[in-house]
Amino acid sequence: MKMSIPVIDFSALNGAKRSETMAQLHEACQKWGFFMIENHDMDTSLMDKVKKLVNEHYEQNLKDEFYKSALAKKMEKQEKTTDQDWETTFFIWHRPKSNIKEIPNISDELCKTMDEYIAQLLQLAEKLSELMSENLGLEKTFIKKSFSGANGIGPVMGTKIAKYPRCPNPELVRGLREHTDAGGIILLLQDDQVPGLEFYKDGKWVEIPPSKNNGIFVNTGDQIEVLSNGLYKSITHRVLPDKNGSRLSMASFYNPIGDAIIAPAPKLLYPSHYCYGDYLNLYGKTKFGEKGPRFEAIKNMVNGNGHTNDGLAINEY
Ligand SMILES: [Fe+2]
Repeated sequence: MKMSIPVIDFSALNGAKRSETMAQLHEACQKWGFFMIENHDMDTSLMDKVKKLVNEHYEQNLKDEFYKSALAKKMEKQEKTTDQDWETTFFIWHRPKSNIKEIPNISDELCKTMDEYIAQLLQLAEKLSELMSENLGLEKTFIKKSFSGANGIGPVMGTKIAKYPRCPNPELVRGLREHTDAGGIILLLQDDQVPGLEFYKDGKWVEIPPSKNNGIFVNTGDQIEVLSNGLYKSITHRVLPDKNGSRLSMASFYNPIGDAIIAPAPKLLYPSHYCYGDYLNLYGKTKFGEKGPRFEAIKNMVNGNGHTNDGLAINEY
């Protein structure tokens, strides 16, 4: 179904509308798990150029091979396929170490343009990680530090380049089967003409329209769900192939490095393993205040700052 998805105006984060925009971002992360970023301050001519060069790379190096594949042959016979995706892809690692030069047949111009694009996108990813941390009530480097390994290296940045080639029978196959993303923050530069991406929300598939004006589409992965203790959920999505067009998708991942240890932010966890009597003692003194600070105080108590239960704390209910 068509539905207007949240749009975050990044330029408003520096002015009088900052708190309003932060609230919009928090709501988009909490209630949607995906949103569009506009006015992100990236070089749009660079974005146009990288898309053009990737499309040329596909036309020259990948397209013929794809239509000769077993999957494409199966489609000619009009057989339904449920265990493969109608896509042709390759991965590029950018950080901590780039492997872009190892991509077969990649031109120097595409390498250079991609590197420039990713340098700008990384800044946007880091900014987002700070804003999300802030919105979760955590220190602003929380996500970045959580995604780094024991030696301080990380987060990693990589890009899955995909084309979803024009498909004669889109009802017989998925472009990409339903899944949630494993990692952290995913920033998508996608086709401005051909649709296909869908996210599942409130029992319905929501169509993500082609991106006009080089907006960056963002969704959050499983690790953000864990770090945020389930406040920001990773959302199931899929790609449908298109009968008329070939869709470009450049999904860049701001992810934990392999040896990063992931856990819910302690600040977002409920207190646990306390004596109810202790809770009641505290409740007696704070009944008419917010419960959040009370939970924090109980957590501090459990962490060794004054367990006071005598089993008789029954003064307030
Ligand atoms: Fe995905």
